[in-house]
Amino acid sequence: MHAQEGAEFRPKIHGRRTGRKLRPGQQQLMDVLLPRLAVAAEKPVDLKALFPERPEAIWLEVGFGGGEHLADQATAHPTTGLIGCEVFRNGIASLLGHIEKRHLGNVRICTEDARMLLDALPAASLSRVFLLFLDPWPKKRHSGRRFINTESLNRLAMLMKPGAELRIASDDPVHIAWALAHASNHPAFSWTARTAADWCVRPQDWPATRYEQKAVAAGRQPMFFRFLRR
Ligand SMILES: C[S@@+](CC[C@H](N)C(=O)[O-])C[C@H]1O[C@@H](n2cnc3c(N)ncnc32)[C@H](O)[C@@H]1O
Repeated sequence: MHAQEGAEFRPKIHGRRTGRKLRPGQQQLMDVLLPRLAVAAEKPVDLKALFPERPEAIWLEVGFGGGEHLADQATAHPTTGLIGCEVFRNGIASLLGHIEKRHLGNVRICTEDARMLLDALPAASLSRVFLLFLDPWPKKRHSGRRFINTESLNRLAMLMKPGAELRIASDDPVHIAWALAHASNHPAFSWTARTAADWCVRPQDWPATRYEQKAVAAGRQPMFFRFLRR
């Protein structure tokens, strides 16, 4: 179901929305800065209005966590517009802190479930999409909760321009096999890897996320996948 159809589609969120109480400075950012950067997913998103400065490209990060990767990409690519989508309040507050500290003018934030945002974005509008360490839901009975599935990949295929890049990372073997099978079997995406180094080593232009650092500290091996929209 798409926002364009005017329906009130609110998928069930399985992860946490809230954590520890925000500090007063973070609450202030949520009250004052967030409304200026917010992307409403209930209706079709007008990218020209969202980014009046007309960025060269629009990139999307789903589930940005604390926003370290998104803020680093926005800093490294000032002429790109980045949309981050995250439902966890403390993560949103963390990204707002990075935006304020670094004076980033090219980031917008959607605080709704990413599936709603995918329905609201215009076709062929995205040049890069990041799905980094999304909740793996490794138990078979929870597999329906995984964000990566045929439906979301179909939708991303519509939203991504030809040649656009889809980056996926995970440290969970069950989720890695699942994501790889879904993306590499999808007719709209081709996997760029040629050698094992292509998925075992994080590329230089791909900053580490907080979750990746935790995974490595715990002895887990993250994997990094790049697909191109055909
Ligand atoms: C395991 S954390 C990883 C965070 C970050 N990408 C990192 O690597 O540090 C997954 C994040 O995805 C967010 N998330 C999961 N499903 C989501 C959805 N459907 N829409 C938006 N955010 C989602 C969660 O709230 C959580 O913060």
